[in-house]
Amino acid sequence: MKIKTKDKLITDKNEAKSFLERYGLYAEFWSPEVSDPNISDPLVKYANQIQRLKKRFNYASADVCSMNSNTKNMDKMLDAFVKEHHHTDDEVRFTVDGEGMFGVNPITDPPFEVYVETGDLLLVPANTRHWFELTDKKNICCIRVFKDKPKWEAVYEMPEKLIQS
Ligand SMILES: [Fe+2]
Repeated sequence: MKIKTKDKLITDKNEAKSFLERYGLYAEFWSPEVSDPNISDPLVKYANQIQRLKKRFNYASADVCSMNSNTKNMDKMLDAFVKEHHHTDDEVRFTVDGEGMFGVNPITDPPFEVYVETGDLLLVPANTRHWFELTDKKNICCIRVFKDKPKWEAVYEMPEKLIQS
Protein backbone atom coordinates (compact mmCIF):
# COMPACT_ATOMS: atom_id res chain seq x y z
CA MET A 1 0.00 0.00 0.00
CA LYS A 2 1.18 3.47 -0.87
CA ILE A 3 -0.54 6.80 -0.31
CA LYS A 4 0.00 9.84 -2.47
CA THR A 5 -1.13 13.11 -0.93
CA LYS A 6 -0.85 16.63 -2.30
CA ASP A 7 2.65 16.94 -0.92
CA LYS A 8 3.97 13.55 0.16
CA LEU A 9 4.25 9.88 -0.68
CA ILE A 10 3.70 7.41 2.16
CA THR A 11 5.28 4.00 1.55
CA ASP A 12 5.49 2.74 5.13
CA LYS A 13 2.50 0.52 5.90
CA ASN A 14 2.11 1.60 9.51
CA GLU A 15 2.32 5.23 8.53
CA ALA A 16 -0.25 4.62 5.79
CA LYS A 17 -2.58 2.96 8.30
CA SER A 18 -2.32 5.89 10.74
CA PHE A 19 -2.82 8.41 7.93
CA LEU A 20 -6.00 6.60 6.82
CA GLU A 21 -7.32 6.39 10.37
CA ARG A 22 -7.21 10.17 10.62
CA TYR A 23 -9.89 10.22 7.91
CA GLY A 24 -11.92 7.32 9.27
CA LEU A 25 -10.57 4.73 6.81
CA TYR A 26 -9.10 1.46 8.01
CA ALA A 27 -6.35 -0.82 6.65
CA GLU A 28 -4.92 -4.23 7.45
CA PHE A 29 -2.21 -6.27 5.73
CA TRP A 30 -2.89 -9.98 5.28
CA SER A 31 -0.82 -13.02 4.33
CA PRO A 32 -2.58 -16.34 3.74
CA GLU A 33 -2.93 -18.34 6.94
CA VAL A 34 -3.89 -21.45 4.96
CA SER A 35 -0.70 -22.74 3.38
CA ASP A 36 -2.03 -25.72 1.37
CA PRO A 37 -0.81 -24.95 -2.19
CA ASN A 38 -3.80 -26.81 -3.65
CA ILE A 39 -6.17 -24.21 -2.24
CA SER A 40 -6.69 -21.40 -4.71
CA ASP A 41 -10.09 -20.07 -3.61
CA PRO A 42 -9.32 -16.69 -1.98
CA LEU A 43 -12.29 -17.10 0.38
CA VAL A 44 -10.69 -20.28 1.75
CA LYS A 45 -7.11 -18.98 1.64
CA TYR A 46 -8.03 -15.96 3.75
CA ALA A 47 -10.91 -17.57 5.68
CA ASN A 48 -9.46 -16.77 9.12
CA GLN A 49 -8.88 -13.09 8.38
CA ILE A 50 -12.32 -12.70 6.77
CA GLN A 51 -13.92 -14.30 9.80
CA ARG A 52 -12.10 -11.94 12.20
CA LEU A 53 -13.05 -8.92 10.11
CA LYS A 54 -16.72 -9.97 9.95
CA LYS A 55 -16.80 -10.36 13.72
CA ARG A 56 -15.07 -7.06 14.41
CA PHE A 57 -17.16 -4.89 12.07
CA ASN A 58 -20.34 -6.95 11.97
CA TYR A 59 -20.13 -7.91 8.30
CA ALA A 60 -22.28 -10.72 6.99
CA SER A 61 -20.93 -11.94 3.67
CA ALA A 62 -17.97 -11.96 1.29
CA ASP A 63 -17.38 -12.67 -2.37
CA VAL A 64 -14.58 -12.50 -4.94
CA CYS A 65 -14.53 -10.01 -7.79
CA SER A 66 -12.01 -9.88 -10.65
CA MET A 67 -11.39 -7.33 -13.36
CA ASN A 68 -8.83 -7.81 -16.12
CA SER A 69 -8.46 -7.60 -19.87
CA ASN A 70 -10.73 -10.65 -20.27
CA THR A 71 -13.58 -9.00 -18.38
CA LYS A 72 -16.50 -8.18 -20.64
CA ASN A 73 -17.58 -4.53 -20.53
CA MET A 74 -14.61 -3.63 -18.34
CA ASP A 75 -14.49 -0.04 -19.58
CA LYS A 76 -18.18 0.34 -18.84
CA MET A 77 -17.71 -1.08 -15.35
CA LEU A 78 -14.76 1.23 -14.70
CA ASP A 79 -16.77 4.23 -15.86
CA ALA A 80 -19.07 3.67 -12.91
CA PHE A 81 -16.14 3.59 -10.47
CA VAL A 82 -13.99 6.49 -11.69
CA LYS A 83 -16.55 9.18 -10.91
CA GLU A 84 -16.47 10.40 -7.32
CA HIS A 85 -19.24 8.77 -5.31
CA HIS A 86 -20.08 7.33 -1.92
CA HIS A 87 -22.13 4.41 -0.63
CA THR A 88 -24.54 4.10 2.23
CA ASP A 89 -22.58 0.98 3.28
CA ASP A 90 -18.87 0.49 3.90
CA GLU A 91 -16.79 -0.48 0.87
CA VAL A 92 -14.43 -3.22 2.02
CA ARG A 93 -11.84 -4.58 -0.41
CA PHE A 94 -8.99 -7.01 0.10
CA THR A 95 -6.62 -7.22 -2.87
CA VAL A 96 -5.81 -10.87 -3.57
CA ASP A 97 -3.93 -10.17 -6.77
CA GLY A 98 -3.17 -7.22 -9.04
CA GLU A 99 -3.47 -3.59 -8.05
CA GLY A 100 -5.74 -0.58 -8.01
CA MET A 101 -6.08 2.98 -6.81
CA PHE A 102 -8.72 4.38 -4.50
CA GLY A 103 -9.03 8.15 -4.63
CA VAL A 104 -10.46 9.64 -1.45
CA ASN A 105 -11.94 13.09 -1.02
CA PRO A 106 -12.04 13.75 2.73
CA ILE A 107 -13.72 17.14 2.04
CA THR A 108 -11.92 18.80 4.94
CA ASP A 109 -8.51 18.29 3.26
CA PRO A 110 -7.29 17.84 -0.34
CA PRO A 111 -8.02 14.48 -2.00
CA PHE A 112 -5.41 11.71 -1.74
CA GLU A 113 -4.71 8.43 -3.55
CA VAL A 114 -4.41 5.01 -1.94
CA TYR A 115 -2.59 2.43 -4.12
CA VAL A 116 -3.49 -1.11 -3.12
CA GLU A 117 -1.70 -4.34 -4.05
CA THR A 118 -1.67 -8.01 -2.98
CA GLY A 119 -2.22 -8.32 0.78
CA ASP A 120 -3.86 -4.93 1.33
CA LEU A 121 -7.24 -4.62 3.00
CA LEU A 122 -8.92 -1.23 2.73
CA LEU A 123 -12.15 -0.26 4.43
CA VAL A 124 -13.78 2.89 3.05
CA PRO A 125 -16.59 3.76 5.48
CA ALA A 126 -20.15 4.59 4.39
CA ASN A 127 -20.61 8.16 3.14
CA THR A 128 -16.90 8.66 2.36
CA ARG A 129 -16.48 10.30 -1.06
CA HIS A 130 -14.15 8.17 -3.21
CA TRP A 131 -13.47 6.74 -6.65
CA PHE A 132 -11.57 3.75 -8.04
CA GLU A 133 -9.22 3.22 -10.95
CA LEU A 134 -7.17 0.29 -12.19
CA THR A 135 -3.44 0.84 -12.75
CA ASP A 136 -1.77 0.32 -16.14
CA LYS A 137 -1.65 -3.41 -15.41
CA LYS A 138 -5.46 -3.45 -15.72
CA ASN A 139 -5.77 -6.37 -13.36
CA ILE A 140 -7.26 -6.82 -9.93
CA CYS A 141 -8.82 -9.66 -8.00
CA CYS A 142 -10.35 -8.74 -4.68
CA ILE A 143 -12.44 -10.07 -1.86
CA ARG A 144 -15.40 -7.83 -1.10
CA VAL A 145 -16.99 -7.95 2.34
CA PHE A 146 -20.52 -6.73 3.01
CA LYS A 147 -22.83 -5.88 5.89
CA ASP A 148 -25.68 -7.51 4.03
CA LYS A 149 -25.99 -9.41 0.77
CA PRO A 150 -23.51 -8.33 -1.93
CA LYS A 151 -24.64 -5.14 -3.61
CA TRP A 152 -22.92 -2.18 -5.20
CA GLU A 153 -24.83 1.06 -5.35
CA ALA A 154 -23.06 4.34 -5.94
CA VAL A 155 -24.39 7.77 -5.04
CA TYR A 156 -22.70 10.26 -7.34
CA GLU A 157 -24.32 13.40 -5.98
CA MET A 158 -22.50 15.09 -3.13
CA PRO A 159 -24.71 15.01 -0.01
CA GLU A 160 -25.79 18.47 1.14
CA LYS A 161 -24.23 17.96 4.57
CA LEU A 162 -20.78 17.42 3.01
CA ILE A 163 -20.76 20.52 0.82
CA GLN A 164 -18.56 23.15 2.39
CA SER A 165 -19.69 26.71 2.20
FE1 LIG B 1 -17.27 2.84 -4.38
